[in-house]
Amino acid sequence: MVPYTYRMVAVTLSWALLPVQCLSIPASSQDHSTVQRRADTRAPDPIDQASFDTILNYATYAGTYLEAPCKKPPQGAAVVAFVQNDTTETQQSLFRNDGAREVVLAFPGTANPTDIETDLNFPQVAHPACDGCKVHEGVYEGWLSVADETMRQVKSAMQATPEFKFIILGHSLGGGLANLAYVDMQRAGMKVDLVVTYGELAVGNGKYADHVDSIAGATDDPSQPGMFMRVTHANDGVPLLPPNALTSIIGQDFVQHRTEYWAQDGPNGEAANISTTFRCYGQGSQACNTGQRGIGINGAHISYP
Ligand SMILES: *[C@@H]1O[C@H](CO)[C@@H](O)[C@H](O)[C@H]1NC(C)=O
Ligand SMILES: *[C@@H]1O[C@H](CO)[C@@H](O)[C@H](O)[C@H]1NC(C)=O
Repeated sequence: MVPYTYRMVAVTLSWALLPVQCLSIPASSQDHSTVQRRADTRAPDPIDQASFDTILNYATYAGTYLEAPCKKPPQGAAVVAFVQNDTTETQQSLFRNDGAREVVLAFPGTANPTDIETDLNFPQVAHPACDGCKVHEGVYEGWLSVADETMRQVKSAMQATPEFKFIILGHSLGGGLANLAYVDMQRAGMKVDLVVTYGELAVGNGKYADHVDSIAGATDDPSQPGMFMRVTHANDGVPLLPPNALTSIIGQDFVQHRTEYWAQDGPNGEAANISTTFRCYGQGSQACNTGQRGIGINGAHISYP
């Protein structure tokens, strides 16, 4: 059973701009100061053509399927495997694209506002990636519920085509799952060539964000953005979740990671294009999505370019 809002997010992601307002995220989530903790105010740079093309290219995967397995794979890709755990409602599809010579693991945008609200009440738990790394228990549990099977499938697919690139994608809650999958696959010594997330919620604390930046080779050197593209759009509020109002009460922080690519709409609501999309600096730039103070699942969250 696919929750209604999940279907809506998935269906509209790639093409529509619906004025869907935040449904159940508490108003107090306007206070996002934990996510801004290491905010940068440096002006973003224009995005280069190759990075912009990459963002548009993989949005076709992130936006085209409702539930695993994907029924109509984009770009002539074939679904080679999928996993669905009904208890945690976590799923993924694994694609092989012979034309592009790549294997793509994609986590759909399974976020529905009820899930997110419930999930926000989870505490952080230790993550073995580093001393002091902590992650959101609910999202981590979701990833762990499919991790063994997913890693087995990816290894098998990459053994069949070792020269192919391996790419991980996700939207929304799926972006958080993609992040956790990347970190665990890197720890397991698996080859990952690129990670692209759209509207990814914050899954870990500052040390975890630093760890992600470190393994992805992401720095604030303009020429070293690293291999993890965290795409945000306009005032999408999901990258600012979980909200500080909750997290400060129970004493945990959530910090976003590099490198953010922010697609801003035109002044009159025109769709984002290459000249309104930027490479941002820091872990939650005030000059990019964080500074827009978006709240939860809004129109910007479900309408990535
Ligand atoms: C689904 O997830 C639950 C909770 O993590 C776990 O107990 C269960 O074994 C998983 N099911 C499968 C088929 O892996
Ligand atoms: C991009 O969008 C801006 C703002 O809407 C517009 O002024 C500009 O002409 C567009 N550029 C291209 C290349 O389409």
